[in-house]
Amino acid sequence: MKKIVTFGVFDMLHIGHILLFKRAKELGDYLIVAVQDSDFILKYKPDTRMVYNTQERVFMVGAIKYVDEVVVYKDVDDDIRNIDFDVFAKGPDQVHAGFQRAVAWSEQAGKEVVVLPRTEGISSTMLREYKKH
Ligand code: CTP
Repeated sequence: MKKIVTFGVFDMLHIGHILLFKRAKELGDYLIVAVQDSDFILKYKPDTRMVYNTQERVFMVGAIKYVDEVVVYKDVDDDIRNIDFDVFAKGPDQVHAGFQRAVAWSEQAGKEVVVLPRTEGISSTMLREYKKH
């Protein structure tokens, strides 16, 4: 069985997230979505205005039919080592140092790394702004 893993915050689920899950699932048989822990996000980016807490985001992501398993993560480059997967699917925007280290580790461990396209015109940041009006 080919297992895919993808990482993200997934606050206020939107069409871009669902399309990401669909495309990721099409790469294999079993999709694991790693949702970033709210306390960890706020510790490093205290100005982030999260709408949903960690458990709510886990619940919503897990309700999507393309998703087989949801896990919570803090640091992508540490936590990826503890997940059993074959393909690391990531967004083109996931380029910061932690993701670079996670890609390097995956390649060294013989995993496949796939960059999936991002859906234009929608993001959680946009939805947070919209909600203010
Ligand atoms: N993503 C996507 N299309 C979008 C938005 C996000 O494919 N329009 C993907 C990202 O590339 C990433 C995953 O969804 O692989 C998680 O992204 P996340 O940061 O949680 O979502 P955003 O909506 O981009 O949130 P933010 O505006 O806070 O960055």
